[in-house]
Amino acid sequence: MSVLEKVTSADAIALEDKYGAHNYHPLPVVLSRGEGVYVWDVEGKKYYDFLSAYSAVNQGHCHPKIVGAMIEQAQTLTLTSRAFYNDKLGVYEEYVTKYFGFDKVLPMNTGAEAVETALKLCRKWAYEKKGIHENEAQIIVCEGNFHGRTTTIISFSNDENARKNFGPYTAGFIKIPYDDIDALERAIQSSKNIAGFLVEPIQGEAGVYVPSEGYLAKAKSLCKDNNVLFIADEVQTGIARTGKLLAVHHENIQPDILILGKAISGGAYPVSAVLANDTVMNVIKPGQHGSTFGGNPVAAAVAIAALEVVKDENLADNAERLGKIFRAELAKYIETSNVATLVRGKGLLNAVVINDTEESDTAWNICMALRDNGLLAKPTHGNIIRFAPPLVMNEEQLLDCVSIIIKTLKQFEK
Ligand SMILES: Cc1ncc(COP(=O)(O)O)c(C=O)c1O
Repeated sequence: MSVLEKVTSADAIALEDKYGAHNYHPLPVVLSRGEGVYVWDVEGKKYYDFLSAYSAVNQGHCHPKIVGAMIEQAQTLTLTSRAFYNDKLGVYEEYVTKYFGFDKVLPMNTGAEAVETALKLCRKWAYEKKGIHENEAQIIVCEGNFHGRTTTIISFSNDENARKNFGPYTAGFIKIPYDDIDALERAIQSSKNIAGFLVEPIQGEAGVYVPSEGYLAKAKSLCKDNNVLFIADEVQTGIARTGKLLAVHHENIQPDILILGKAISGGAYPVSAVLANDTVMNVIKPGQHGSTFGGNPVAAAVAIAALEVVKDENLADNAERLGKIFRAELAKYIETSNVATLVRGKGLLNAVVINDTEESDTAWNICMALRDNGLLAKPTHGNIIRFAPPLVMNEEQLLDCVSIIIKTLKQFEK
């Protein structure tokens, strides 16, 4: 079958099933077009997108400014590798570092690569600046974390599905409970070899767990007092998703290392970034880290446009305002519901907990019914449904979505 031929939904699913590795379990809907908060399937049915490609499409599908920048750059120069300079990278580096308030950026492509970069940077800093003996550095991570899929990253995951039969695992990580400041203090004081603390400001993939107020600020201050790098993985929470530019801004802190991905390109192109100040970033020297595509001219042009859209369209404020409405409306319904037990989140990163076991398929069935009712969302873990629409949504659209969600949940009342 030629890629130019039109396929039906059934054809597209059958092709993926036959020729693609079975490493995902998608909701059966085949999308062929997107614009703003909407996507359309190949048969022309229109849906609200309430996942935003796991918070990559914060600026909305096919934002004309982002797509325009991509087309213009793609017609001019796409890739030089870092063997040579290009005229876009430095401009982007200045823009992104000033935007987030760091001295330097190290550009990569995917979120997992950026996490790997941060881990390498942290270890190198620990040996060369903190004076930890080589190969002895430890990085503290949290239970329930999700930082991507590479061998090192899954080594410190506690999701058995992500880990099993992918060993041997990378050493050098200490796992502590999330949102437990005493556990962090004990771990930091347990050894002189602690190099960093890697944390998601909200655990998105685990089910949108928001830590207690003050946790991140206390964690940052513990790290500072003990010369431990505070590494924020904002791949999912960053770039206006939670109602501030970064989720750590809710607690007015600046990480030592910031990891960004997903929405830094508005979902148009794989772009990720690691930001840090010179004292940390300058430990990396030529040949010690990189990627053929990292910092390519298209990525640079797309990321500048995507970050401009976030500011120009006040997406953080919109997420903050609409998020409050979303949670208030859902909470009102949940008071009398026997299907949903809880709504939680920040900004437009929210989850509804379904009144059934983790192993049940109720949340999946609700997502199928949501699809039939014109809204796309997906369970994160078993009985938790994540709701994360593009941040360009307006209030009228949000209220329409709330009524679709409540109508659908009511179909499952017992
Ligand atoms: C917090 C966090 N870190 C890292 C990643 C990995 O990003 P990618 O899938 O682009 O490798 C994700 C992806 O969902 C994420 O949510």
